[in-house]
Amino acid sequence: MIEKIENLRAEIASLKATSPQEAEQLRIRYLSKKGAVTSLFNDFKALSPEQKRELGQKLNELKNFATETITALRDAAAAGENSQSDDDMDLFRTAAPMPLGTRHPLSLVREEIISIFARLGFTIAEGPEIEDDWHVFSSLNFADDHPARDMQDTFFINRNPDVLLRTHTSSVQSRVMEHSEPSIRIICPGRVYRNEAISARAHCFFHQVEALYVDRHVTFADLRQTLLYFAREMFGNDTRIRLRPSYFPFTEPSAEMDISCNLCGGKGCSFCKGTGWVEILGCGMVDPNVLDACGIDSKEYSGFALGMGIERITNLKYQVKDLRMFSENDRRFLEEFTSAR
Ligand code: DAH
Repeated sequence: MIEKIENLRAEIASLKATSPQEAEQLRIRYLSKKGAVTSLFNDFKALSPEQKRELGQKLNELKNFATETITALRDAAAAGENSQSDDDMDLFRTAAPMPLGTRHPLSLVREEIISIFARLGFTIAEGPEIEDDWHVFSSLNFADDHPARDMQDTFFINRNPDVLLRTHTSSVQSRVMEHSEPSIRIICPGRVYRNEAISARAHCFFHQVEALYVDRHVTFADLRQTLLYFAREMFGNDTRIRLRPSYFPFTEPSAEMDISCNLCGGKGCSFCKGTGWVEILGCGMVDPNVLDACGIDSKEYSGFALGMGIERITNLKYQVKDLRMFSENDRRFLEEFTSAR
């Protein structure tokens, strides 16, 4: 009998239940009228008084142990704790392979542009993508009837008061000038929106980087030297630059900058349409009207600004043929840039 009690105790100690139903089956198996523990009580009745004295307490202990163990198993299973027992865990199993992602080509190029300007002391400034007319147009000297304000070009959320998606990162210029004193030396990366039909060469959103430097005695020579430094850091030491007169409402004089074609080295190829030059950005001396509109005394201070499209620079570096690839999340395209990480 004593052996039976000990065997049962060991058996009960190793019981498991993954659901309350299984725990109930165990209760029936051990503690119901015909259960294994209960039937020991029946055997007990037939024992001599001496044996009863010796075994009675042990038998009661076994019953209590069985009741407690099975109740605990039922409670744990009900709380879901037993759904994965230790035995199911294989610490040596190989982890499911998790492929490492790649940096997006636009992020790679944005970081490169930022780090080049950071070496010249420019710091990052950011502004909202949902903007107002003042910061995108009026403060930047756009005339009231300027065509950029047209529904054709700008996504208006609200006409009056004007709430719109910024069409360029130049809006960050005016926000920073409104709130700070020169010397100002900022670089503003960000997403911009235009109401364009989507094609290989145009998209309704793209990315720009704007740079602004305002201080005493800033001249066109500073602008030119900054541009040359940027072009050489970005496209290699042999790169030459060319400035063509242009027009922007917020700069005077304004220029468009070309670099010598980085594919043919300036000899002329299909990429540069035989000219040896490719256009990469707009720039100029900040128009005094813009400085004054943003609370900076144009008699005391001058500045230069420039703005470029990140997609354009990325195309020049990596020859991406279709703008839409940048936003389609096609892994075959993104994985091309693994080694550029
Ligand atoms: N905001 C212009 C655009 O979106 C780019 C630009 C040109 C920015 C000249 C400038 C600048 O700061 O001086 O086309």
